[in-house]
Amino acid sequence: MPVRTPLMQTLGLEHPIIQAPMAGGGDTPALVAAVAEAGGIGFLGAQYLPLERIGEVARAVRARTNRAFGVNLFAPQPAPVLPPDPEAAVARVAPFFAELGLEAPSVPASAADDFEDRLAALLETGASSLSFTMGLLPEPAMQAARARGMTLIGTATTVDEAVALERSGVDAIVAQGGEAGGHRGTFLGDLGAGVVGTMALVPQVVDAVSVPVIASGGIMDGRGIAAALVLGAQAVQMGTAFLTCDEAGVPEAYKAAILAAAEHQTRVTRAFSGRPARGIVNRFMEIVEAGAGPGDILGFPLQNALTRPMRTAAGGQGKADCLSLWAGQGVRLAGRGPASALMARLAAGTAAAFGRADG
Ligand SMILES: Cc1cc2nc3c(=O)[nH]c(=O)nc-3n(C[C@H](O)[C@H](O)[C@H](O)COP(=O)(O)O)c2cc1C
Repeated sequence: MPVRTPLMQTLGLEHPIIQAPMAGGGDTPALVAAVAEAGGIGFLGAQYLPLERIGEVARAVRARTNRAFGVNLFAPQPAPVLPPDPEAAVARVAPFFAELGLEAPSVPASAADDFEDRLAALLETGASSLSFTMGLLPEPAMQAARARGMTLIGTATTVDEAVALERSGVDAIVAQGGEAGGHRGTFLGDLGAGVVGTMALVPQVVDAVSVPVIASGGIMDGRGIAAALVLGAQAVQMGTAFLTCDEAGVPEAYKAAILAAAEHQTRVTRAFSGRPARGIVNRFMEIVEAGAGPGDILGFPLQNALTRPMRTAAGGQGKADCLSLWAGQGVRLAGRGPASALMARLAAGTAAAFGRADG
């Protein structure tokens, strides 16, 4: 690798490559460990893991590698408010439940945010880094992670968010561009507005903060990694590229949808979870979004809870048209194979891209 950055030193990386946390099952212990063994660092997205499973999953990583890994959660979110007629949102998704042979859905109960308990479990995992998205961490949480020697990494989709994260004391910032698959990390201003492309976002964030910046969104190969480093990033965080690896835990129908998708076929939607997230356009997304008024899709995490049984059943039945197919705009560059082969391709591709640029 022709590049060594201070952040690579901090995170113990041979290659400036971070496998993104992918809550919902994509980031298996096998994937995280394979990335670590290949000289990158993998993150476990713990937001949707039952609290009692967090330690188990971390131990499964440890059983496979002695190298460092990271954990990730969502910052505390404001309690969602139910619209005056929540049955309208339920009615919109009900036909998909019937199609999958499920019981009719009902308005989900508002569960309290379990941030404190989730953080407490994550602090016991032995992870070397804690990353988070969709906000700032409360100061006591930052202190607790720091006391464990963890590297703290926040997510920004705008320069203002990056500056707020730096002020909060993070060690590094993921600059998440609009190309990125999965949930938008946006937390300041209009949640739907922060869709700035990676190419534009990374250098503006690099200029605005003094902590290391990690580029994320649409980066799929060595050319993308080299470009991000040239823009001033000290590493990249990649999600979609790892989702089609053999070790990734998403249903086969999801992997097939990524491998068949083209760059213009993803969109940012609230249909599955109530929060903007980028995924491959499918029938559920199109029908639920069509003519939807403000109350027709519940807020996060209520819409997520509402659609969960449908998504689980769709995964089991191989029905990609009812799955949340989170993926970034680089889908056409995705390929099959073990994570070790992807890591080797990424390292060689980055070196080749720098060779070309230098020559
Ligand atoms: C399936 C999926 C799940 C994701 N889950 C999380 C998550 O739990 N926490 C997080 O910080 N980012 C999450 N992300 C966003 C990634 O951190 C990253 O920003 C994104 O994958 C980068 O874009 P790319 O997919 O084009 O590489 C997720 C992305 C995907 C594709």
